Amino acid sequence: MSQPTHIHKVSNEAKQQARLSEEQYQRMYAESVNDPDSFWREQGQRIDWFTPYNRVKNTSFAPGKVDIKWFEDGTLNACYNCVDRHLAERGDKTAIIWEGDSPEVQDEISYRTLHKEVSRFANGLKKLGVAKGDRVAIYMPMVPQAAYAMLACARIGAVHSVIFAGFSPKAIADRINDCEAKLIITADEGRRGGKTFGLKDNVDEALADNRCPTITHSVVCQVTDGEVNWQPERDVWWHELVADVSHECQPEVMNAEDPLFILYTSGSTGKPKGVLHTTGGYLVYASMTHEYVFDYREDDIYWCAADVGWITGHSYIVYGPLANGATTLMFEGVPTYPGIGRIGEVVDKHQVNILYTAPTAIRALMSKGDAAAKTSSRDSLRVLGSVGEPINPEAWEWYYEKIGNSRCPIMDTWWQTETGGIMITPLPNVNDLKAGSATRPFFGVEPGLVDNDGKSLTGATEGNLVIKQSWPGQARTLWGDHERFEQTYFSTYKNQYFTGDGARRDDDGDYWITGRVDDVLNVSGHRLGTAEIESVLVAHKAISEAAVVGFPHDVKGQGIYVYVAPMTGVTADEALTAEVREWVRNELSPIATPDFIHWSEGLPKTRSGKIMRRILRKIAANEHDNLGDTSTLADPSVVDSLIKHRLNK
Ligand code: PRX
Repeated sequence: MSQPTHIHKVSNEAKQQARLSEEQYQRMYAESVNDPDSFWREQGQRIDWFTPYNRVKNTSFAPGKVDIKWFEDGTLNACYNCVDRHLAERGDKTAIIWEGDSPEVQDEISYRTLHKEVSRFANGLKKLGVAKGDRVAIYMPMVPQAAYAMLACARIGAVHSVIFAGFSPKAIADRINDCEAKLIITADEGRRGGKTFGLKDNVDEALADNRCPTITHSVVCQVTDGEVNWQPERDVWWHELVADVSHECQPEVMNAEDPLFILYTSGSTGKPKGVLHTTGGYLVYASMTHEYVFDYREDDIYWCAADVGWITGHSYIVYGPLANGATTLMFEGVPTYPGIGRIGEVVDKHQVNILYTAPTAIRALMSKGDAAAKTSSRDSLRVLGSVGEPINPEAWEWYYEKIGNSRCPIMDTWWQTETGGIMITPLPNVNDLKAGSATRPFFGVEPGLVDNDGKSLTGATEGNLVIKQSWPGQARTLWGDHERFEQTYFSTYKNQYFTGDGARRDDDGDYWITGRVDDVLNVSGHRLGTAEIESVLVAHKAISEAAVVGFPHDVKGQGIYVYVAPMTGVTADEALTAEVREWVRNELSPIATPDFIHWSEGLPKTRSGKIMRRILRKIAANEHDNLGDTSTLADPSVVDSLIKHRLNK
């Protein structure tokens, strides 16, 4: 590393406040990896089971035989654990604080109200014929009904598949069709940053011309009262659906290994992967990580500023905190609206103790100097969290000083959609912190570094990050494609889970995540496959070939640099460039909007016809002085022309 490590040691005073002493932590970690069966047998008790489990861990990472089961003979219900079991002692406690896009609008939902709303909606779903095992798509803005919808599905044993509200009609249709969802839950419109955006319109387009034949109904929540088109035989208003249903709905008895949800994420091919999480292990892991990583305490106000459309929202807005009976804050808006100080203002207003957000948000605030910290005191904060991408030391220090007033430890949490919960992280006041390092594995997690040949590396070194043994929150398969699951995660390095990330381990054994080593981009914490964007590009009539690479971006972490070859006879002018940019936004998502669109008659290829992305990456990053070996190129002159016309200067 070019810069010295910024270390923040846990003070003796802070150690007194820690949930665990260093020795307890070491002992617990050792037990968790040496005797996972007994460790998780005990930890599994943190949630309520209808039928207790006898068998704890039954997992195999063996080639061709990947099979992951936890607590397999236990039965439970995730919604019961997140709602019903708190009623006796926490019925009046606020389960969800909802902070609207406008600072004038907010709501507080008690556990009792949550129980009523979720039960009613669950009965509504049943009325529409949704039954245990059916898949239900959810395409919602950040309103409490998004959480109600997820929990209602869990209550009746339906498998939810939340689709991020920024996705296009085509992306919605692809996801619905892959899991053959029966129903979609959406809203008229969403609100963000003082503007509204259509949701039902996108759903209408996704469902048009019988494009999604498995969908019988779309349930529409009235959020903005905006105008919508209506198909009476298919569309149902949420409020009308629940107008005359009972407030009581028995939670379905689910096996620990019954599916809880599918969440699509990007991989290195064009087709998104339907990551499947099951019920028991996921909930135990989400609940335990939420409690330990944030040192969550009963009266805390906890805020994870993610979107429910991503795994962070699933595990740390909904399932983890609610399983722990916490008060979880759900924020409809953006960190910069109506002003740059919004995050701190929300913290002060609700007296937030724990704040969990993403480096891209931190960098966006940091780019405006200290302004984000001027309108609030943030004295209530105790613990900070970061997630989604590597946090650069400058952003870490800024977050620590300006948002946390130099007194709140930052948990840099590394994990993935596939891991279900946090995997590598410090624990508050237990581990020393290093700006930019996710530090230590969580209980039960045994990371390793391997070289490209799969050789295990020891000591301080850098390599590909693998996880050596199963943990309860792990994804069980990809929906309908177990072979791809094995192929993607268990075939590169035998008997280990391959994360797709690279990492460095320092002399103290702390991990530093360096980023993806595959063709996956991380743009503002959003995961995007380069192949996914390329397949949208080549579907445009003016484009014959496309290659997409990432480049370092000050705020977004990575930006998107697109190389496109026009069809014969096409003139690539500004209007066409703008059209292609719009095309990607509309066909995939605004989060995939290219930063640069570079037209070129040819792309650098090997003699066997393979595009040399390594070279394209260097040119996009403006590092073309050091292109490495170009001797296998079919036509080296293409490279000179690309360098000459490079856009990221
Ligand atoms: O590259 C890693 C990065 O985000 C990827 C996972 O993306 P996703 O499945 O969308 O889940 C994001 C939220 C858990 C990882 O493969 N990543 C996530 N957290 C960190 C990170 N990279 C560095 N440091 C982190 N704390």
